[in-house]
Amino acid sequence: MLGVIAGTGLEHFFKGIEAPIKTDYGSVHAILTKGDKIAFISRHGFAHDVPPHKINHKAHVAALKKLGVSGVLGFSACGAISKYSIGDLVLLEDFIDFRAPQTFFDKLESINQHAWMAPPFSKTLQGKALAAAKKAKVVLKKGGVVAVTAGPRLETPAEIKAFAKLGANLVGMTTSPEATLARELELEYAAIAVVSNHAAGVKRFAPSGAEIAAVAAAQAHKAAKIVAELSK
Ligand code: HPA
Repeated sequence: MLGVIAGTGLEHFFKGIEAPIKTDYGSVHAILTKGDKIAFISRHGFAHDVPPHKINHKAHVAALKKLGVSGVLGFSACGAISKYSIGDLVLLEDFIDFRAPQTFFDKLESINQHAWMAPPFSKTLQGKALAAAKKAKVVLKKGGVVAVTAGPRLETPAEIKAFAKLGANLVGMTTSPEATLARELELEYAAIAVVSNHAAGVKRFAPSGAEIAAVAAAQAHKAAKIVAELSK
């Protein structure tokens, strides 16, 4: 079973049986597809009513761990700082996040609780995602480095300039907590950005939330093809 967590514009990705999963961090509704091939979690809730700073990432990751998934693939709408165009699907290769911690380890019980983040994503799952995209004839670009902000507000042009100088080419709000928590639970995790807009100060920037969601939703079929191939 492959775990999939998807965000803005992608919340109606899969149909199946809704399964409430209890974790130590709260309950999660996952969709289990036919034959239990995919366990799907809508990151912002199926009604898209959970803002980025209120997402219960710990419950999401713990629920997928409890289900015994072989790995987790995250999809998230991102703004492009450079290199990428609206509508691109980009395999994330690194992230920048200097914000408050997201961790399962609130008491240090072992030196191994400092999650090792080099590389930040599972090379194995990244390779599988690239191969699946190729088979599904979906263009999956490489080289995504995402700067992750708390949200829910979008960035200022100066913040985007600073992120660009630091080496980010994408900006988003959700990837790093998931990647970190998955690593702490020893789950393979890879992430794909769905480029939904240019970041603040880059080309035309006046996206409404609805515009971002609509662009991401228009790419959902490509993401679904990759997942279908991966879960074969
Ligand atoms: N910034 C942060 N998060 C985002 C953006 C953005 O421009 N677009 C989609 N998610």
